[in-house]
Amino acid sequence: MEKISRFVVVGLLVALAFVHPFAFAQGPVKKPTPKPLGKPSIAVAKSPGQVVYEQNCLTCHQANGSGVPNLNPPLRGTDWVLGDKTRLINVVLKGLQGQEVEGDAYDNAMPAHDFLTDTQIADVLTYIRSSFGNKAGVITIDEVKATRAQK
Ligand code: HEC
Repeated sequence: MEKISRFVVVGLLVALAFVHPFAFAQGPVKKPTPKPLGKPSIAVAKSPGQVVYEQNCLTCHQANGSGVPNLNPPLRGTDWVLGDKTRLINVVLKGLQGQEVEGDAYDNAMPAHDFLTDTQIADVLTYIRSSFGNKAGVITIDEVKATRAQK
């Protein structure tokens, strides 16, 4: 009787030793994926106006609004950007050529951008009036609509 129970106990222990690694295995350990270098972990959302600017204006006026000396004027602190709204909207709708900007002349011509929607023009002008150190008010869709209707 004692022999049998010892046999059973040993048998159970052997069985347990065999089953144990399977019962508690947790599958392959996953390596943490490394973060890509040089990118901020929190993406900063762009305003719609910045997107329009980057696609239509940046090549000439540059990302920081500095322009290119003698070719394309800056958008930083100019009377054209900060001043009369109708005149500013018309620069985008009709383009500009042969005008002085803050006393300097520029060789390039600004092409008309009347293919942009009223919303895109309102967004991009609001963007340039509040970027590059500029602090001028919003341009609304209705203001663009009204100016487009005048011509
Ligand atoms: C092909 C180059 C080019 C592109 C693209 C362009 N511009 Fe211009 N822009 C110019 C030039 C050149 C002038 C000055 C024209 C002149 O001398 O009369 C100018 C003038 C201006 C002015 C008035 C002067 C000033 O610097 O304040 C504004 C405002 C302006 N651009 C905004 C824009 C916006 C907004 C866009 C995009 C929707 C845009 N431009 C796209 C070349 C460009």
